[in-house]
Amino acid sequence: MTFTTTILQWFRENGRALPWRETRDAYAIWLSEIILQQTRIEQGRPYWERFMQRWPTVGDLAEATEDEVLREWQGLGYYSRARNLHAAAQQIVARGVFPQTLEGIKTLKGVGDYTAAAIGSIAFGLPAAVVDGNVYRVLARHYGIDTPINTTVGKREFASLAHELLPIDEASAYNQGMMDFGSIQCTPHNPDCMSCPLMETCVALREGKVEELPVKQKTLKVKERKLTYIYIRYKGLSVIHRRGKGDIWQGLYEPWLTENVPEGARLIRKNVKHVLTHRIIYADFWLWEPDQQPVLPVDYCWINEEDWVNYGIPRLIEIMLKEINKQTNK
Ligand code: ADE
Repeated sequence: MTFTTTILQWFRENGRALPWRETRDAYAIWLSEIILQQTRIEQGRPYWERFMQRWPTVGDLAEATEDEVLREWQGLGYYSRARNLHAAAQQIVARGVFPQTLEGIKTLKGVGDYTAAAIGSIAFGLPAAVVDGNVYRVLARHYGIDTPINTTVGKREFASLAHELLPIDEASAYNQGMMDFGSIQCTPHNPDCMSCPLMETCVALREGKVEELPVKQKTLKVKERKLTYIYIRYKGLSVIHRRGKGDIWQGLYEPWLTENVPEGARLIRKNVKHVLTHRIIYADFWLWEPDQQPVLPVDYCWINEEDWVNYGIPRLIEIMLKEINKQTNK
């Protein structure tokens, strides 16, 4: 049996039952792929269900506000996905139909080669091979390839192999089979190779390189950044700010961000470490309850304290608000 037929058979017997696999609705499939870009299935599934319930069609999503979409996305991280999702819904509505070619799908905001191949193959049966982290791992191990996967040469080599292995008529099952096989059978660590249907032909297993593959070239260290947040409380009011373009957390809300802590503020928590893709943040949280209502910098405004729940906020700020409520018995 060849590699491809083994994957297809494994998928028929072991593929996961997922709600977005029960439909050919391109909108539902697209939504699942955007959610799953950087999120595990168990974590993403309830979000997919809530989005489908609240916005059952692309037209419904296009009519929502960006704030509503960000709010529904809260807790998933990588918020540019939510902003792109919303913008792409409007692109699709403006065009009148969901694009049905790879090139067309790629013009949607937030959709790159990988997501276009997934949507195209699953929704429309297009013969495009998905190359994601799971696919890199399965191919690198089975074929004993040690070219680093995060280099141009490596990407080209893996993409070309993935394409050769793709069964033209069964792209959807093959791609989803590869993704499931990578996350269930050929796991990053301690895979159960003794139960693997590919054990006889796997180069990494034969050569004792399963844990070594795939190879990743080391990249530069991520930048560190210090943030000081002041939660202002004045007669049941609090101060809020919407983050702008060109920085982390675009479009999300936060308390007063400053470098100078005002007299009389009290420290809630110091050096809270928060890891993002390209940054490690160390945040200090302060609570300030001034006697007189302070004048605010531009772009900041007052809200009722209870209204924080109506705004999309980063996970770090969620932690801060919880800590403040806990310490002040709110
Ligand atoms: N990860 C991203 N998309 C997926 C899919 N369609 N099936 C399984 N895992 C995935």
